[in-house]
Amino acid sequence: MNHMKRLVVLISGNGSNLQAILDACASGEIPASVAAVISNKPDVYGLVRARQAGVLAVAFSKSDGEPRAAYDARLADYVATFQPDYIVLAGWMRLLTSNFLSRFPGRVINLHPALPGTFPGTHAIERAYASFQRGEIDHTGIMVHLVPDEGVDDGPVLATQVVPFQPSEALAQFEARVHAAEHRLLVETMRALVVGRVSNFQSPNSRSPHA
Ligand code: GAR
Repeated sequence: MNHMKRLVVLISGNGSNLQAILDACASGEIPASVAAVISNKPDVYGLVRARQAGVLAVAFSKSDGEPRAAYDARLADYVATFQPDYIVLAGWMRLLTSNFLSRFPGRVINLHPALPGTFPGTHAIERAYASFQRGEIDHTGIMVHLVPDEGVDDGPVLATQVVPFQPSEALAQFEARVHAAEHRLLVETMRALVVGRVSNFQSPNSRSPHA
């Protein structure tokens, strides 16, 4: 029998992408439920968003001196208790080692505000904007991808969308456009995964940088 798919969302901050997922699950656009929202940092706004949506919100911090591998194994044990179909990294700003990833093969999904192979790591939007200011690029983008291993913001791509720069646009405005695009692309991709329509998934609004 088909069960309602379960998501666990990992966050580290504001949680605007988490909010998009919560809203899409509530409306049925993503036919799944969010079983838990876990943050590696306490007191982040994303945990408030989860509680407001009636979803279990948990701060799960690394203890002082705890080795990364031990934290990841402990996190994996905890996440596994929710029996998630997918684990969504929505602004999760910690590298996950194989101690975590090997427990959930093909089930960990990351969102990153850049195109494949560009601007991995933190502050991708700011770095792309600075590169545009220097006249090096005329667009950046966003992607959703599987996380098979410890590569940073790297892995089999599920969806991409180009975000062109606009002349004289301030960083704040540009950032808002990137986030709005992320909210749509993440929801569309999670919907496609949950309903089992994944192969070569591309948003109707997105185009591949290679197309
Ligand atoms: C998003 O832009 C997401 O793509 C990025 O963090 C932001 C979280 O925003 N993730 C990464 O940079 C991963 N390397 P949010 O907390 O408002 O969803």
